[in-house]
Amino acid sequence: MRFTEDMRHTTPEDNQAGLFSCNDGIYPAGGSLEGDDSLRPGNPPDKEAPVMPLDPHSDKALLHFITTEDPEETEALFAAAREVRSSHYGRDVYFRGLIEFSNYCENNCYYCGIRAGNRRLKRYRLSLEEILGCCRLGDLLGYRTFVFQSGEDPWFTDDRIEAMLEAVRGEFPDHAITLSIGERSRAGYERFFRAGANRYLLRHETASEEHYRKLHPRRMSLRERKQCLWDLKDIGYQVGAGFMVGTPFQTPKNLLEDLRFLRDLEPHMVGIGPFLPQEDTPFGNYPPGSFEQTLRMIALTRLLLPRALIPATTALGTISPLGREKGLMAGANVVMPNLSPKDVREFYALYDHKICTGDEAAECRLCMEGRIRNFGFEPNMARGDMAGWEARKFPRAGVIQQ
Ligand code: 5AD
Ligand code: FES
Repeated sequence: MRFTEDMRHTTPEDNQAGLFSCNDGIYPAGGSLEGDDSLRPGNPPDKEAPVMPLDPHSDKALLHFITTEDPEETEALFAAAREVRSSHYGRDVYFRGLIEFSNYCENNCYYCGIRAGNRRLKRYRLSLEEILGCCRLGDLLGYRTFVFQSGEDPWFTDDRIEAMLEAVRGEFPDHAITLSIGERSRAGYERFFRAGANRYLLRHETASEEHYRKLHPRRMSLRERKQCLWDLKDIGYQVGAGFMVGTPFQTPKNLLEDLRFLRDLEPHMVGIGPFLPQEDTPFGNYPPGSFEQTLRMIALTRLLLPRALIPATTALGTISPLGREKGLMAGANVVMPNLSPKDVREFYALYDHKICTGDEAAECRLCMEGRIRNFGFEPNMARGDMAGWEARKFPRAGVIQQ
């Protein structure tokens, strides 16, 4: 599909006419709207101001809501999360263009399909020209945030990342640049910031030492990962932490630890998605995480961090056909459609049955816009910094952004 100017905006009617589509994955869980009035498309969200169902600083209350399956309690939780989200962001949902520029990774996380040990995966690296091509298309489609994501790929030295950032920054002086390339030295993070990166996503994956060791080989360290997040924040990035719900061996108490860690770190962004098995990994035979529990974790995160930018993740859209929409109804306010070239999409295979691997960037853009409008939300293509965010006026000596 070629993108033209007048395709920038669609209406709900376009949506019904099937102008966009999306392969909806294979997971049946949570796909029905039966008996769930608040989630019926067209219903305006936030009709009545709900009573806050819990004190977000009480561990007991958090633990209760992590595990409850009571439909009324859950709906009250989601309604409260929507209310908090609306008070800072209205109905707006921010769009980010995701560019998965390398699927090489030197790590071996037991859950992840692009782990070094997966010899069956075809590896790719985009050239700088290809990356810039994605940015140019993204810009034409209206995106004002680019998210550059890769495995921990040693070919992309600090020099090469810096060169990439300088090229992108040179061509797009006003766009937000988000990096998501894993653990690096503080000096590297400082160089990237100076070269124009504004935000950094690094999910902590689990805040529990004991659980972390069950998900990762011994050479990886939760302490170092958390330190990266503190460093990034200190340098002046808007920082994204996050975790998976339902990874093997996870307990409700582990999820409480995740929330506590978020409360301490106060990240600007939080990525939360269900664990989904990938067949060529050591966890390939474990069951997927719970869709409903993932929604509850999104809602609890919203209550703990009212102004956070929380994506309705691709994993959420993979585990349930209306997963991303329901994520928004539980308090999320960001979507990250894919801008990577179509011919490499399938190789960024973190988990099986990932959606949107067969769609052009323009199709994903239209698809998400229609889906969002159907649920009463308003796509927002602006940079979308965190509400109240002010870039540091007096950055640390030596790390002033150009
Ligand atoms: N299921 C769900 N999410 C996964 N990720 C990696 N592997 C999986 C999986 N099997 C998530 C991790 C990582 C992010 C880029 O993708 O949380 O940080
Ligand atoms: Fe639906 Fe990509 S095709 S979001």
